[in-house]
Amino acid sequence: MTDTATDTMPEDLAALEADLTARIAAAGTDGELEEVRIHALGKKGVVSERLKELGKLDPDQRRVVGPAVNGLKTRINDAIGLRRTHLQDQALAERLAAETVDVTLPVRPAPIETGRVHPVSQVIDELTAIFADLGFEIAEGPDIETDYYNFTALNFPEGHPARDMHDTFFFNEKEDGTRRLLRTHTSPVQIRTMETAEPPIRIIVPGRTYRCDSDQTHTPMFHQVEGLVIEENATIGNMKWILEEFCKAFFEVDNAQMRFRPSFFPFTEPSMEVDIRCRRTGSEIRFGEGDDWLEILGCGMVHPNVLRNCGLDPDRYQGFAWGMGIDRIAMLKYGMPDLRAFFEADVRWLSHYGFRPLDMPTLFSGLSQQ
Ligand code: DAH
Repeated sequence: MTDTATDTMPEDLAALEADLTARIAAAGTDGELEEVRIHALGKKGVVSERLKELGKLDPDQRRVVGPAVNGLKTRINDAIGLRRTHLQDQALAERLAAETVDVTLPVRPAPIETGRVHPVSQVIDELTAIFADLGFEIAEGPDIETDYYNFTALNFPEGHPARDMHDTFFFNEKEDGTRRLLRTHTSPVQIRTMETAEPPIRIIVPGRTYRCDSDQTHTPMFHQVEGLVIEENATIGNMKWILEEFCKAFFEVDNAQMRFRPSFFPFTEPSMEVDIRCRRTGSEIRFGEGDDWLEILGCGMVHPNVLRNCGLDPDRYQGFAWGMGIDRIAMLKYGMPDLRAFFEADVRWLSHYGFRPLDMPTLFSGLSQQ
């Protein structure tokens, strides 16, 4: 058909078709092709002009030239359509080649997958969840303390040997003879709280503490959680129940047998140390069974002198308190043998013992997702 059409076509039309066909073939992009289309078929395009000129021809000429120009228009239009489809196919093929995904490659883990929560943070979250459920608030105090809050207000008399047992880090003496220290326990926050809050008081104080000591189970910086309850009729019975509930929830066992041994702390009277029943087999420890006992905390009824030091009337208020090593209960629960590794910032240790950041400990979903 093309041949017939070209045969009956005036020569200049044949030249025009050859030119347009070449331009169409040369168009490498959609944009270039559009330029060719406008050049040929646009309002003022070369083919459109020819169509307009048909009116000026005499009827005989028009009969010959008319179909020729119309045929040219149709062929150019078709050729542009074909070229457009071809260019689109080509572009798609190039894109597919460029965006190839190799689904057999290993998935690159997102930061949320590789990051780990340190066991100390995890255990603080766990015990916070437990004590919050029991109606406790969180209190905090400064790491750098005065002698008054760390010792004197807690009923450590000046020169009492109990002060020396704390292996305190002291700062240099100031001109007025006083010297600050790094708190050796979280107990000073008891004082700071009782000075300002009205009973009833129910707080826990997780935080950093410092002592000049270092071996497999001691580091110069470690963590404690203090507990304090002050009410008009708080009793030792209440304290034992709270500590037992805590141990069952924390160690995730139904039964946690505890042993309260008489002890001494200047800020409590009576004072006790608490052991929990366990069974040790090799490096594994199971709680609530067996014949071994592990010390996990110190506690007692708040000494009347301490209440008095905070402006509370010991004839009206009484309370109990306890202090527990966070790192120690973390080691026991998660079987980590060396405390020093906690603070070495070794990513391999953390990826082994750390916790996934989105697994938040809650009482209803389970504390440790073990
Ligand atoms: N502050 C004590 C210590 O670091 C622990 C402690 C014992 C805290 C008895 C208390 C308590 O609140 O009642 O060794």
